[in-house]
Amino acid sequence: MESVTRLSTGISGLDEMLYGGINHGSIVAMVGPPGSGKTLSSLQFLHASLHSGRTCLYISANSSENELVRHSRCYGWDFEPFIKSKQLMLMRIQPVQLTQSEGSMHLVSDYLNKLPRVVKEIKMEVVVIDSITDFLLLCKSEIESRSRLLYLFQILKTNGSIALITVESDVNSDSTRHGVVEYLADGLIVLRRVQSTDLSEIVHVIQVAKMRWDKHMREIRQYDFTDKGIVVYNKYEVMLNDIHVR
Ligand SMILES: Nc1ncnc2c1ncn2[C@@H]1O[C@H](COP(=O)(O)OP(=O)(O)O)[C@@H](O)[C@H]1O
Ligand SMILES: [Mg+2]
Repeated sequence: MESVTRLSTGISGLDEMLYGGINHGSIVAMVGPPGSGKTLSSLQFLHASLHSGRTCLYISANSSENELVRHSRCYGWDFEPFIKSKQLMLMRIQPVQLTQSEGSMHLVSDYLNKLPRVVKEIKMEVVVIDSITDFLLLCKSEIESRSRLLYLFQILKTNGSIALITVESDVNSDSTRHGVVEYLADGLIVLRRVQSTDLSEIVHVIQVAKMRWDKHMREIRQYDFTDKGIVVYNKYEVMLNDIHVR
């Protein structure tokens, strides 16, 4: 079998589930409810990609560049030198803006054109989009979201980039209203909250639901937030944690 080079996600437990990391040229969607760690894991992935020497583009729909740099420092990830050396382009693109004209407020948006344009012009080896949800919400029909997403994915494929795209799912469901991302992406990582077996707490779990053209584990693993980022545990570590808690 042809050997493939994989890019580490920066989360060792997740790398194990992916037999080393994300395959070259893959577009991976990460789906999860609010607070499940999508932004955190995307920054962790960014940090690992920069340290492996890749050029990176990180597009945020919600947070400013300063906020991202500042929050990342809390986990020991310093992006500033990479921004200075132009290995990293960190940018916020606001999906909609409120403007005032003729005495009333209007929503304006160029996001549907701007996002693909930026990805095309700033050609980087790794692209992170956190999140794609507003892009999909701005589309007026399912066929429009599918076509626009296909266009964006074509650009990423032409550039040969590895992409991680986060998608917000509904709080009580594994899937999003925008199944099209899950369907079109090469890989799908699902984050979920579930009740622990003794019903005493809600725990976070992660699963690699698909990884086209590549092998991956199917098991569901527990993960947690730490001051070094996200940590994905294997069964043995979960048991040790339980013993430790008792
Ligand atoms: N050092 C930490 N210790 C404990 N919890 C943390 C820590 N850092 C982040 N979190 C948790 O991470 C979550 C934020 O994750 P975030 O990546 O913003 O989620 P999402 O992007 O999916 O909405 C918060 O709910 C917070 O509880
Ligand atoms: Mg987020």
